[in-house]
Amino acid sequence: MRNSISPISIFLLLVVLFPIFPPLTRCSILPLNESDNLIEEICKQTPHYDLCLSYLQSNPQSSNADAKGLAQIMGDILLACATEELNYIEGLIKQAPEPELERSLAYCAELYIQVVKYTLPQALDALSKGEYKFANYGIADAGKEAQTCEKKFSGSTDSPVTDRNNLVENLSEVAKAIINVLLKG
Ligand SMILES: *[C@@H]1O[C@H](CO)[C@@H](O)[C@H](O)[C@H]1NC(C)=O
Ligand SMILES: *[C@@H]1O[C@H](CO)[C@@H](O)[C@H](O)[C@H]1NC(C)=O
Repeated sequence: MRNSISPISIFLLLVVLFPIFPPLTRCSILPLNESDNLIEEICKQTPHYDLCLSYLQSNPQSSNADAKGLAQIMGDILLACATEELNYIEGLIKQAPEPELERSLAYCAELYIQVVKYTLPQALDALSKGEYKFANYGIADAGKEAQTCEKKFSGSTDSPVTDRNNLVENLSEVAKAIINVLLKG
């Protein structure tokens, strides 16, 4: 009779059913989701942890991304938000505001056009090529332009875009910090 189970098969079966390493019972809670873990690790090294976490976690590509991928996703988010801000400013200008406000808005629009059309796309391109220092230069610039826009409103004209400028500035700081992690690594 040759239909008996060979000792090797039994051994393999035992290994599958009862792996010796690691033990079946582990003295720990369930391991953290690897990707969420990386996002948290990275966001902790930025000046706006909550903002970083919420934006990265709401991007479906983040779950498979490594640190460089997360930097690129944050760069894309920054570009998307700066673009939205530009559209919003252009919408306000179309509503024919009073002249002083209109001048400030037009000034901001020029800054953001520069950021959205040239500075950030170049920075993102550099980032994808691993040219982190150049990338950081452009990403930091987006934050600076947001500040410059905000300062243009003074005295009688309250800025209608304070929150949006702050968001762009904060996202720029987050992206910059993530790239700094890459530079250190
Ligand atoms: C890990 O997180 C990602 C994104 O948050 C999710 O899609 C995936 O299902 C999670 N995996 C586990 C094992 O929880
Ligand atoms: C940006 O960061 C500043 C300083 O941490 C904070 O006060 C502000 O609420 C943030 N704004 C946005 C829109 O993230």
